[in-house]
Amino acid sequence: MSIVNAKEIMIEAAENKYAIGAFNVTNIIQMEAVVEAAVEKKSPLIIQTSVKPSKFIGRHVFVAVYRTLAEAAPIPICLHLDHCTDIEYCKQCADAGYTNIMIDASKQVYEENIRQTKAIVDYCHSIGDISVEGELGTVSGVEDQIKVAEDEAALANPTQSVEFVERTGVDVFAPAIGTAHGVYKTKNPKVDFERMGQIHKLLNGNGVKVPLVVHGGTGLPEDYIQKLIEMGGAKFNVSTELKHTLIDATWGYLSEHRDEYDPGKLDAFTKDAIRHAVGHWIDMLGSEGKA
Ligand code: 13P
Repeated sequence: MSIVNAKEIMIEAAENKYAIGAFNVTNIIQMEAVVEAAVEKKSPLIIQTSVKPSKFIGRHVFVAVYRTLAEAAPIPICLHLDHCTDIEYCKQCADAGYTNIMIDASKQVYEENIRQTKAIVDYCHSIGDISVEGELGTVSGVEDQIKVAEDEAALANPTQSVEFVERTGVDVFAPAIGTAHGVYKTKNPKVDFERMGQIHKLLNGNGVKVPLVVHGGTGLPEDYIQKLIEMGGAKFNVSTELKHTLIDATWGYLSEHRDEYDPGKLDAFTKDAIRHAVGHWIDMLGSEGKA
């Protein structure tokens, strides 16, 4: 049985200076690809779905496939609901069997963010071993149904981060530090490493209690990734890269096999491309062999 929440595997990662890849999937084949990559690398894994695919495929379907794959895999795997702004849907996914829930009330005013995040923490902790991720500040770009313009994005204040974590009781914390969803427009995005380090020190200086999440993994230069792991990043979210991988692989395959009508072959090809991309992330995050 390798069904876990995010907190336990992230604490272990933060203590040992590696990070866990959290890969957004939109269908079952991607889910299988991500699991196969992590099993091959003997790495702990976080699978995540945004709200839209969760509703499209159905939360119970995702959970059933997750449980089947995780129970057969010799590695710990978490299923995370990403950036959910709807309290009721957060609760429904927790009830269905997601093991980490992100309530994203980061666009709300501070007190409302605390109120909503705490409500989900209280709920998830009351029904089982489900960890909760909260966000402070806002990450620019587009993820699922949430859009944040660059000039709207605000970085997390370190002292306020401590208060936020204490008052909400969140298990894992995503401070906005300048990373962005989508494709970075520059080769050297402006990321506030110092802020990340300061927040990590304030929260986890005397032993890791609330591990940190880095959003906007796609396109982050490898030296940034290493530095962010050094500064306490224990979960890296990767979405856009996998979407591009899927679409590009599909397009490439179909262009070369225009007269072939064998969906299984197309599925195998795209699955392989995603497996490869995830394997590369696991190498960068240093989680190979940590399961
Ligand atoms: P990217 O789409 O930039 O990889 O970001 C993913 C993310 O942070 C999902 O929460």
